Amino acid sequence: MISQSLRDETRARIFSLTADERDEIALMATLCCELYHSCEGYDWVGFYRVTGAEMLKIGPYQGGHGCLTIPFSKGVCGAAARTREIQRVDDVHQFAGHIACSSTTLSEIVLPVYGAGGRLLGVLDIDSDQPAFFDESQSDWLEEILSHCFKDILPSAPHA
Ligand code: SME
Repeated sequence: MISQSLRDETRARIFSLTADERDEIALMATLCCELYHSCEGYDWVGFYRVTGAEMLKIGPYQGGHGCLTIPFSKGVCGAAARTREIQRVDDVHQFAGHIACSSTTLSEIVLPVYGAGGRLLGVLDIDSDQPAFFDESQSDWLEEILSHCFKDILPSAPHA
């Protein structure tokens, strides 16, 4: 549970910090840092970027180490990239093909990240050690932040 006031503060701080920033990696790094350190219950926050055909590669993140490469055919991240739909997983043990980077992760949300012209730049993955941590309003809040920050950004990777 993340209170409305914490969401409002975090969103305002992210928008202010990134107001003049157009670099994809600088934006991703700043969002990871702010979300990870603001939101208790977020135990891993990171981006996977589209860097090859149907291929995701680890980008900026906070938390323990994440696996480096995820094809679109694998895991929750791959499902979000493949379907272009937000994946909200209340119990990772029930998600066939979930890729476990930490044995303490119980729930997870993965959101597609779109840049200029609606191109898929990558995905934002957030893991929690608490079950069913991500509700729909949190998903809406994260989607709004991503859209605001990335909607005009040109991809730096050739395949995005
Ligand atoms: N759980 C993700 C893999 C990335 S890690 O959690 C950092 C997945 O199933 O795609």
